[in-house]
Amino acid sequence: MSSLTVALAALAATATLPGVSVAAPASRDVDPCAKIAGQEFVVPADAMACLTYFPFNATLRQNVLDVVSKVFDFYTFEDYYLEPVPEFQQPAVLIREELARINSTEYNSDYAFNKDLFDLTNSLNDGHTAWFPFCYWSAFQNILPAPVVSLSVNGTEDVYVVPDLADFVPLLGANYTAYYDAIGFDWTRLAGARVLEIEGLDAYAYADYVADTVTGNYLDHGVRVNSAFSSYRIADNVFSQRVGDIAGPLFPNQDNLTMTVVLANASVPETVVVPYLAAFLGSPFTDAASYWENNCAANNETNGVDNALPGGSRAVGGRKQPRAALHANLVTGANIPSQLIPTLQNVTGSEGVIKNYLLDDNQTAVMFVGSFSPDDYYAFQYDVADAIAAFQAAGATRLIIDLTNNGGGYVCLGEFLHQYLAGSNFGFPGYSTAIRANALAKQILAADITLDNTGEVCFYAPNNWAYTNDTIMPETDDYFVPEVNRTINGVLYSESQRFYDVCTPFNVSIPAEPPFDLSKVVIVSNGDCASTCAQFSTLMYERHNTTTAVFGGKPGEVMQFKGMAGEQVLEWTDIDSEIKTAGLKDDPLAPPDLLVYGDFRHNWRTAYSWRDEQTPIAYYSELPQYRFAYTPETYMSAQNLWTFAAQELFKDE
Ligand SMILES: *[C@@H]1O[C@H](CO)[C@@H](O)[C@H](O)[C@H]1NC(C)=O
Ligand SMILES: *[C@@H]1O[C@H](CO)[C@@H](O)[C@H](O)[C@H]1NC(C)=O
Ligand SMILES: *[C@@H]1O[C@H](CO)[C@@H](O)[C@H](O)[C@H]1NC(C)=O
Ligand SMILES: *[C@@H]1O[C@H](CO)[C@@H](O)[C@H](O)[C@H]1NC(C)=O
Ligand SMILES: *[C@@H]1O[C@H](CO)[C@@H](O)[C@H](O)[C@H]1NC(C)=O
Ligand SMILES: *[C@@H]1O[C@H](CO)[C@@H](O)[C@H](O)[C@H]1NC(C)=O
Ligand SMILES: *[C@@H]1O[C@H](CO)[C@@H](O)[C@H](O)[C@H]1NC(C)=O
Ligand SMILES: *[C@@H]1O[C@H](CO)[C@@H](O)[C@H](O)[C@H]1NC(C)=O
Ligand SMILES: *[C@@H]1O[C@H](CO)[C@@H](O)[C@H](O)[C@H]1NC(C)=O
Ligand SMILES: *[C@@H]1O[C@H](CO)[C@@H](O)[C@H](O)[C@H]1NC(C)=O
Ligand SMILES: *[C@@H]1O[C@H](CO)[C@@H](O)[C@H](O)[C@H]1NC(C)=O
Ligand SMILES: *[C@@H]1O[C@H](CO)[C@@H](O)[C@H](O)[C@H]1NC(C)=O
Repeated sequence: MSSLTVALAALAATATLPGVSVAAPASRDVDPCAKIAGQEFVVPADAMACLTYFPFNATLRQNVLDVVSKVFDFYTFEDYYLEPVPEFQQPAVLIREELARINSTEYNSDYAFNKDLFDLTNSLNDGHTAWFPFCYWSAFQNILPAPVVSLSVNGTEDVYVVPDLADFVPLLGANYTAYYDAIGFDWTRLAGARVLEIEGLDAYAYADYVADTVTGNYLDHGVRVNSAFSSYRIADNVFSQRVGDIAGPLFPNQDNLTMTVVLANASVPETVVVPYLAAFLGSPFTDAASYWENNCAANNETNGVDNALPGGSRAVGGRKQPRAALHANLVTGANIPSQLIPTLQNVTGSEGVIKNYLLDDNQTAVMFVGSFSPDDYYAFQYDVADAIAAFQAAGATRLIIDLTNNGGGYVCLGEFLHQYLAGSNFGFPGYSTAIRANALAKQILAADITLDNTGEVCFYAPNNWAYTNDTIMPETDDYFVPEVNRTINGVLYSESQRFYDVCTPFNVSIPAEPPFDLSKVVIVSNGDCASTCAQFSTLMYERHNTTTAVFGGKPGEVMQFKGMAGEQVLEWTDIDSEIKTAGLKDDPLAPPDLLVYGDFRHNWRTAYSWRDEQTPIAYYSELPQYRFAYTPETYMSAQNLWTFAAQELFKDE
């Protein structure tokens, strides 16, 4: 570890940077929420006054910590946090000691308690496992009218304010820009400015700091640095520009950001204090009481249900679909400026999360897979089949798959895309997986077997899974018997027998042989490839040696091609429903219902690497074969990036 990293880690632990307001309870005489009711955008200090108005409540703390500590018993990666993981620059996190600290800390608001607990879970850097208090998290998103990126200009990498600023910021809305007009702040002059320092730190050091204190989600520090920057993505089925975690954090706890910049048309540095403005993303309210009622109090969808009862949720097709994705709530961008949308010949199958094109060379097909969480599970499969047929009809012989900012989704759609590219003759397209065998999990499975709970109503049911010979388990096979013991960081860890997902039959027929020579299939991304995306890209790498090129990041810093590589996430409602459906809600090991509106999700199932069957893919270091810096041409133009990638990655042909 460099001394800089140590210094920053110490800073993160003990201090707040200038510009970060320290939450203090507002005066009780005025209602600070009423003041901002109905506004689309609010000054961060006003948002914080509302959020910190609700007093600390010891009953709520006990309730939340009871849920959180009992759900942690199911967490597959808990013991990995006992020691640092140097390959990913992940420090140790002593989860149980931290929970005990939070249990005995005095807080001056309910916000302060929830923020401390959020920060603990966020420091795990596993977006599958975190406490999301919807009262506070992503209720107000702070947005700076100066998102930043790392660009190589004339061979030198530096941090810049996004060059497309003048086109992008107005897309955040007329009320957003009206605020800056009203206070006389001219953000337009910052377009393309070179950023030397942020908050008194070197600009890259500040990106490292945000990666370690704000971003979360991805175990690998290098991947998180890219999340701090602005980038292109598919959101709501269209091209979108993510503002990045420096310019778009999900708590409104910073009033402004001090940047030392060299303006695009200048040569002398100047220091600019850029004010944030917070976008309200929660449910409407008129005052503090209705803010609490509509955004903070538990509602009819907060907790799980007994799915076996009439009215419980029944899986279509007899089996619940496992999912692995970033939390859906992240609203961190706006549509991309229209001149940055590809103008290439588009190819069929592009209506949803996938966008398909043919490059001008007529040889290179591009499939931008923006997500594995489509509106329509079946349409995703038809889109892939239609696009590949069209690529082949056009004579394309090579394929670029873009996974930039793919937040994951259905586990089986990742396996589907892999199977489609590898051909059905390849055999099973996924991973061997296991579930943690804690005492309550074992009781749940035993009860499900006794109660005849099948995959239609619960995830623990054996008939959701297949043995590693790809035969579906009978409803009666207790796969925790015998449990499998391992030692992780000196601690005994018990889990189920290894088993496979059951994703077949797929809804389109799979070609027997690969539609493209697999040595001519390459992946490009920014490393922010989460969950099902991480599984898909790891499968392509581990099973086919697929070449991956990762763009961006901090120059000189190592970076994985994936992050957040669990196998299946259960939301709080999911695990609570599992417990209720098994009739075990009264068990002393079972968590109570949440009294507040929030989600404590966790990574419930592990995928093990094909290259090291004792190591989860999440903890197996796999680096991309190529790293490229973004340039002013490629950072927001996917078309330019693909054209560049085709030249670089197929240059031997
Ligand atoms: C920036 O934010 C800090 C912390 O809230 C505040 O003290 C300072 O006055 C702000 N600066 C400007 C120029 O608004
Ligand atoms: C701007 O905010 C006002 C409320 O303050 C709202 O009525 C209006 O719809 C907003 N404008 C846009 C374009 O969303
Ligand atoms: C704390 O929260 C509980 C549960 O919502 C509630 O019953 C109680 O009145 C609250 N206590 C205070 C002092 O507001
Ligand atoms: C928190 O502390 C209380 C005692 O004050 C204890 O009863 C409770 O079990 C603790 N909760 C957790 C989650 O550790
Ligand atoms: C990059 O090089 C070109 C040509 O030499 C020069 O005009 C331009 O000013 C340089 N840009 C920067 C940011 O150094
Ligand atoms: C820089 O100067 C050019 C030419 O005068 C002008 O068009 C452009 O808007 C300026 N850019 C900025 C960021 O001020
Ligand atoms: C919860 O209540 C809302 C509003 O009344 C309703 O729209 C929704 O369908 C309810 N959800 C469930 C699961 O009952
Ligand atoms: C494909 O291109 C056509 C013509 O430019 C455009 O109208 C259409 O919206 C594009 N379709 C998609 C899915 O991007
Ligand atoms: C690609 O195909 C189009 C349409 O068939 C044709 O006009 C164009 O010349 C081709 N380009 C190359 C590089 O062959
Ligand atoms: C698959 O494995 C299971 C468990 O070992 C075994 O019971 C079953 O007979 C096997 N099925 C086939 C078709 O080999
Ligand atoms: C695994 O460890 C548990 C707890 O020590 C023990 O009860 C169990 O017998 C062990 N199982 C196997 C298969 O070794
Ligand atoms: C991938 O590369 C590794 C190491 O070079 C080699 O052992 C393996 O056989 C290759 N696998 C495939 C499917 O080409």
